[in-house]
Amino acid sequence: MSQIRAVITGVGAYLPPDLITNEDLSRLVDTSDEWIMTRIGIKTRHVLKGEGKGTSDLAVEAIKELFEKTGTKPEEVDLLICCTVTPDMLFPSTACVTCDKLGIRNAFAFDLNAGCSGFLYGLSTASKFIESGKYKKVVLVGAEKMTSIVDYTDRATSPIFGDGAGAVLLEPTTENVGVLDEELKSDGVGRIHLHMKAGGSVKPSTHETIDAREHYIYQEGQAVFKWAVAKMADTAVEVMERNNLDPNTTWLAPHQANLRIIDAVGQRMGIDNSRVMLNIEKFGNTTAATIPLLLWEWEPKLKKGDDIILAAFGAGFTWGAIWLKWAY
Ligand code: UT7
Repeated sequence: MSQIRAVITGVGAYLPPDLITNEDLSRLVDTSDEWIMTRIGIKTRHVLKGEGKGTSDLAVEAIKELFEKTGTKPEEVDLLICCTVTPDMLFPSTACVTCDKLGIRNAFAFDLNAGCSGFLYGLSTASKFIESGKYKKVVLVGAEKMTSIVDYTDRATSPIFGDGAGAVLLEPTTENVGVLDEELKSDGVGRIHLHMKAGGSVKPSTHETIDAREHYIYQEGQAVFKWAVAKMADTAVEVMERNNLDPNTTWLAPHQANLRIIDAVGQRMGIDNSRVMLNIEKFGNTTAATIPLLLWEWEPKLKKGDDIILAAFGAGFTWGAIWLKWAY
């Protein structure tokens, strides 16, 4: 019997209409368009506004587009995985909330938190369910309302993050396309450099934690930067070399944290800039949504059989690379 593989058969996305520009930020903190463009490479980021709106609302819109494009009905979904670090609430899972809002009943559904590597961890996990032969239609969504955990008095983190969601449909195939190889890693020693200090079981929310602004992203940028360049490049090169992929024809879909990190990874891989997918300038770092948003924007340019390396690094630390052969 031929091997069952997981293939992406469609991509949907959603970006809320409101924007935060570098000019807006420079009115809130001591920063400038010039600093942000030179050091990070971001011009604008989207922000979800509206009372009672959360990550599930972004996920729902992305999946609605996915359903429309692929002709999928809610009742056909076997499994939905929501990759996020900004769940609607600690429990229940945003996956369950999303399913309810979309009318997906009785599907296996759960959240997955792997920081900015969330979509890669999710793609690996979803693929295993497809490969088992039991699951035929799996929705994988990366969705984040990052602006809900950004401290807009902190110039070191406020320019970086934005809101958005990207969703893919995964289905089985026996062709030699889809998710073909991966190298995924973690090292919890890195958690000290990137985390949220309060709001979990170690330090539940109190007036003091609110006053100390501990419900926002804490990041030691330089340490994260060094790890991100080294680890993303190591795994991406490893996956590329062991599968004899040609850097002249392979696409790179890298997590969008910093243009300088992306450039360094692309250079280590020997991939020409024209084959490196980018959306950081428009969307900023949307954490688990950056990679599906790239696939969504590049979908019209991709051809069946195109090789793509997806690579990411994020809180945990988590990182890795996946080799995907585009299927349509
Ligand atoms: O996606 C999850 C993983 N996250 C990442 O991969 C992020 C990795 N880190 C980074 O992308 C970068 O480290 C940052 C963008 C966060 C910071 O850039 P940097 O080049 O590492 O800056 P820095 O932290 O070394 O700061 C350099 C200077 C400092 O001033 P002094 O001490 O040299 O006077 C900062 O205070 O830049 C200052 N600075 C700013 N200046 C203007 C920091 N943020 C700003 C700002 N505007 N927004």
